[in-house]
Amino acid sequence: MKKDVGKLYDSTSPCYDTRYKDLQFAKYNRALMVCGSVEGKILDVGCGTGLFGEYIDQKVWGIDSSKGMLQHSKGRIYPIFGDAKSMPFLNNSFDWIFSFTALQNIHDYKLALNEMQRVLKLSGRLVITYLDKREFDPIGRSIRTIFEVKECFSFSEDMFFFCTIK
Ligand SMILES: C[S@@+](CC[C@H](N)C(=O)[O-])C[C@H]1O[C@@H](n2cnc3c(N)ncnc32)[C@H](O)[C@@H]1O
Repeated sequence: MKKDVGKLYDSTSPCYDTRYKDLQFAKYNRALMVCGSVEGKILDVGCGTGLFGEYIDQKVWGIDSSKGMLQHSKGRIYPIFGDAKSMPFLNNSFDWIFSFTALQNIHDYKLALNEMQRVLKLSGRLVITYLDKREFDPIGRSIRTIFEVKECFSFSEDMFFFCTIK
C-alpha cells in the first residue's frame, strides 16, 4: 500500500458515504446482476465504510487498512483492520470475495490478488473492480494471469472482473 493511502482515507472517511454511496450502490447492483444468488461466507476486500455489506444485507467480513473508514461501518460488516496484501484468514475459507474500487490504491496489487486466491475456496467466486484508467490496465492483466476470468466489462467509473480459481 502507498504510505499515504490509509491516512488519506482516514481523513475523507466522514464524508465518504455522502459522496460515494449512490455511485458505489450502482456498481454493487451491476455486479450482483451478473452473480445471481450469493451464498456462503463473503469477504469484502478494501471494504471502506462497509457499504457493500449494507447493500447486500448479508453477513460480510470486511477488511480495510483505514481505521477511519472502518469506524464508519456502523455494524454493516464484521470489520477487520488489516492489509489486503497479508490477510488474517485461513486458506480456502471464503465462498465469495468482492473488492470494489480498491485495487488501484494498492501499489503491490499482485500480492493482494495472491492473497485473494489463497483465501478463496476452490469452488469460490471473485468479483473485482478497479478504476477504469489506462494506468491501471496492468491490474487487469494480473487478474487474468492469476484467475479464470468469466466475464469482464467497464461500467460507471470501474472495470469489472468476474472470476473463478484457475
Ligand atoms: C475507493 S475506497 C472503496 C471502498 C469500498 N470498497 C466501497 O465500495 O465503497 C478504497 C478502499 O480501499 C482501502 N485500501 C487501500 N489500500 C488497502 C490495502 N492495502 N488493504 C486494505 N484496504 C485498502 C482504502 O482504505 C479504502 O477504504
